[in-house]
Amino acid sequence: DASDIEKGTYPHYMLKEIDEQPLVIRTILSKYQNEFGELSIDEKIRSSVIGADRIYMIACGTSYHAGLVGKQLIEKYSQIPVEVHVASEFLYNLPLLSKNPLFIFISQSGETADCRGVLVEMKKLGHRTLTITNVPSSTLSREADFTLYTYAGPEIAVASTKAYTAQMAVFALLACDIGKLKGLDNDFNPLKELSLAANAMEVIVNQKEKIENLVWEFLGMTRNAFYIGRGLDYFVCLEGALKLKEISYIQAEGFAGGELKHGTIALIEDRTPVIALVTQQHVSASIRSNAKEVIARGANVLTISMEGINNESDQFTVPEVHEHLTPLVSVVPLQLLAYYATLHRGYDVDKPRNLAKSVTVE
Ligand code: G6P
Repeated sequence: DASDIEKGTYPHYMLKEIDEQPLVIRTILSKYQNEFGELSIDEKIRSSVIGADRIYMIACGTSYHAGLVGKQLIEKYSQIPVEVHVASEFLYNLPLLSKNPLFIFISQSGETADCRGVLVEMKKLGHRTLTITNVPSSTLSREADFTLYTYAGPEIAVASTKAYTAQMAVFALLACDIGKLKGLDNDFNPLKELSLAANAMEVIVNQKEKIENLVWEFLGMTRNAFYIGRGLDYFVCLEGALKLKEISYIQAEGFAGGELKHGTIALIEDRTPVIALVTQQHVSASIRSNAKEVIARGANVLTISMEGINNESDQFTVPEVHEHLTPLVSVVPLQLLAYYATLHRGYDVDKPRNLAKSVTVE
């Protein structure tokens, strides 16, 4: 049938979508460049972002995780304070809003009801709204003042992969574009660095077998798994854990390395899998020492590091990319881990139980 044709030779949409990520990043780069090869974003969007004294990002699930990274990029390169909120909680715990806020809704589908609930209320208050979405004709796109597209192409698998990396790429471009307009002196060329990140992603998707083999050793029989990281790696841990739990049903949590000792370390038993992400040079010593702490308590640690700060004993190493773009790259082995762990257990990768691709009820 039609869906089989779209899947091509792939056994599952998720694998196809993981593989598409380098192409998606390259597509985004071409869509946000003018004929002179310069970064180009709609003028109205530019002025709405520059005019904001604070940005409130609203999202759910994987898109929320992209927002956590997006905040870091925007604060660093555009110098605008950003808050990231889970959509379903925002109206209950309404923060004290700034004088001139901009609301950014991050949603692959553009249909998530929890986001729409916030959008409707914020529009009533007269606030400006921007949707970052993968679906041009979606509700959130139609109802917000402005839309930025993520150009990832249709995402069919319930577990989001390429939409997440696309969202972060768009944030990197937006952050630098605004920074440039504000005359900030950023020594970061997002066009160049994102294209290097796309190449790095390609290297990783060509090493699937390596990841598949790690699944046997680390996630074979387990009922739980922990992901630890610091800085940007922590946010990717949250996403890696979400990927694993939503499709393989292994109970998984992402933790900030420093928080382990405040509770989670009590859960470490003999052979408990702990996936440690090490892509941030400034915290690599501390996260490696966290890994040692859990190893001392019996954990089976799988270290995923980045070239340049890797150790020989690390089980997987991703190519070196700019320190602020590592999430785009380090998430790929985590997506593949979740994929193969699910295959290994014989579950439906593309259609996990109890979950929907887009949740249109609050
Ligand atoms: C559902 C999906 C998740 C997704 C979340 C937000 O729960 O299963 O994969 O991250 O909705 O979706 P959105 O379309 O708003 O990004």
